[in-house]
Amino acid sequence: MNLSANLNKNFISFIEKFPPIPTNLQKLIKLLNDENSNFNKLEKEIAYNQSLSVNLLRLANSAYYGYNQSTASIAEAVKRVGINTVKKIAHIELIKTKLNKDLNSYKINARELWKHSLSTAIIAEYLSSHKYPSFKSKSFITGLVIDIGKICIDNYLSSQNIILFDEKNSINENYILNLERKIIATDHAEIGGLILKNWNFPEEIVLTIKYHHNPEDAPANTLKQSAIIHIADLLSLAAGYGYKIDKKDVKLSPKALKILNLKFDEVFELIEYNLINLEELIQRWLV
Ligand SMILES: [Fe+2]
Repeated sequence: MNLSANLNKNFISFIEKFPPIPTNLQKLIKLLNDENSNFNKLEKEIAYNQSLSVNLLRLANSAYYGYNQSTASIAEAVKRVGINTVKKIAHIELIKTKLNKDLNSYKINARELWKHSLSTAIIAEYLSSHKYPSFKSKSFITGLVIDIGKICIDNYLSSQNIILFDEKNSINENYILNLERKIIATDHAEIGGLILKNWNFPEEIVLTIKYHHNPEDAPANTLKQSAIIHIADLLSLAAGYGYKIDKKDVKLSPKALKILNLKFDEVFELIEYNLINLEELIQRWLV
């Protein structure tokens, strides 16, 4: 991924210094992605991470799974929720520490940021299950990391005492992208892709994040995923998570709609009728 030649050296060092994935989570994610991995090894690796184990047990014992008896066994908890949910919990564990800070340059606090990521993940997963089920699990994880580039940019701008904008009113993502490009000669989508590449995320997630604002430019093999994440991101904002935008101001890429074979109003209807309990779904993952 080639970065603009105009990037200043100071900022490049911020990207390079962005913390890597903690080794224990790296090991666990690798095991979760390996279909042939040994269950005992997986159980040990989960138990090694205390905060993740607590979240896994909390979820496995929640009313959602409907078991009468609560369990304190990691193996039993994994069996109850399934590997895909353990994958989600592992990525939430990875990302929650990064998102656990207010982004002063973007005038968004940690809680709003976290809820925007979770709602994007949930909407993207829903859209995938409706349109392209094979991308369902990856959609959730991609939604979670949608704003990772903003964290890195905020670290840099804060260190330079640069504020991106003064007013939170009438902010939209295009406005933010233009300001980022003006000030640092790149944007959070490109930086997000770069960080995920450094974290050894699958290439399709890296590219989906890179093109989440211009899915029409994504390589052919990531067009559908980019279209889903693009739409989920904007629907999350329209639902009031992050910068609240009115439905009439939501600018969905016409090509993204075409790729998913959906009309503007249909997208909203899908979410309004099927994710009426979005806040409840977000609370399920909030830790
Ligand atoms: Fe974005």
